[in-house]
Amino acid sequence: MPLASTLFSTLVIALAVSANPVIVHDNLVRLPFAKQVNVTSFGQILRNDQARAAALRAHGHARAAGNLQKDAVISIPVENQAVTYVASVGVGSPATTYSLLIDTGSSNTWVGAGKAYVKTSTSVQTSNRVSVTYGSGDFSGTEFTDTVSLGSGLTIPKQSIGVASQSQGFSGVDGILGIGPVDLTLDTLSPATGSSIPTVTDNLFSQGVISANEIGVSFEPTTEEVDTNGELTFGGTDSSKFTGSITFTPLTTTSPASEFWGINQSIKYGTTTILSETAGIVDTGTTLLLIASNAFSAYQKATGAVADENTGLLRLTTAQFAKVESLTFTIGGTSFVLTANGQAWPRSLNSAIGGTSGNVYLIVNNVGTPSGEGLDFINGFAFLERFYAVFDTANKRVGFATTSFTDATTN
Ligand SMILES: *[C@@H]1O[C@H](CO)[C@@H](O)[C@H](O)[C@H]1NC(C)=O
Ligand SMILES: *[C@@H]1O[C@H](CO)[C@@H](O)[C@H](O)[C@H]1NC(C)=O
Repeated sequence: MPLASTLFSTLVIALAVSANPVIVHDNLVRLPFAKQVNVTSFGQILRNDQARAAALRAHGHARAAGNLQKDAVISIPVENQAVTYVASVGVGSPATTYSLLIDTGSSNTWVGAGKAYVKTSTSVQTSNRVSVTYGSGDFSGTEFTDTVSLGSGLTIPKQSIGVASQSQGFSGVDGILGIGPVDLTLDTLSPATGSSIPTVTDNLFSQGVISANEIGVSFEPTTEEVDTNGELTFGGTDSSKFTGSITFTPLTTTSPASEFWGINQSIKYGTTTILSETAGIVDTGTTLLLIASNAFSAYQKATGAVADENTGLLRLTTAQFAKVESLTFTIGGTSFVLTANGQAWPRSLNSAIGGTSGNVYLIVNNVGTPSGEGLDFINGFAFLERFYAVFDTANKRVGFATTSFTDATTN
């Protein structure tokens, strides 16, 4: 669709990556990041999300079965995403700044997709090749260790990074800041070392910069008018970003969700359970909230929504939307209520996805398989923009809390 591509590539809403320096306070490292909405074709958001879900599932099954190739395939499409969260990360000394996608679904950090790697006196090439395949995108190159800086203040010496000699599918970004579980780096080096590559978080922790091996993530609902940066904190949680207390839940034991940041949860629409307690994942690389196909059918029926051909999303009239009920997520015994407004795509961005202004498009969609397959939901941005999340490596758990945006009516 060349016409649509041309049209939509002009509809770019990019909130400038914050120039604020990282603040280190009480052993907490704060990294601001920016949301970018860049929809280049009709139906792209759902297509990307469903392809990622299928790839995560396939990868998780392969890992669980011990079937990964030596040349590891982390089959996670992150290429050409319509909505991305991007942080500025420095590499080298003096540092060159790269725009990196923040990804909890993969764990290698690498540069060179856009801006070329600039070697400095701190750059040391290892004898390893590194390659990761993300669905239809990929990168391969060499492993270096280098000084990585998260803003102006904080540096991590000798961080392993990939330097792409070849990459495809990453327009508009320079690479990835992988903050998934460290085991996802196993088998990404050749010759195979048999060990994982410590992530940025692991190194901050082992070097004593942070006192807890955990990450707090704050996303905020964004519309064109509002400049709302997200914030990633390494080493703890930022109490200014959430309200009440954090509920933790153990990482799920159910495969393939257990290969990622996987949890158990159940979901009600109004008072009706549409998804009984089951396993899925929390993922910053997914835009929507995806649920098992049977739960999705129940949701569509209950809301009366129709599948919209242009956007790929469910569509409601404003009169129907006025009757939409909350979705209640029960996680670790606590209820997290996603309001009707939280289920809507921001209306000021309707035209950016091929929608019309008089309708409401829903961010709830189909993960592509029925429940019981071990990856029955993905709590993506649409969920994370309403609830603060904590990824706790040390204690093998994920936490959530409400925020001042949980009940916001910005959409
Ligand atoms: C938007 O996406 C298109 C196609 O993937 C890409 O060519 C372009 O560079 C992107 N723009 C921005 C600002 O990221
Ligand atoms: C999650 O759900 C699965 C399947 O119902 C169950 O076996 C498991 O004990 C639950 N809890 C955890 C932490 O995995």
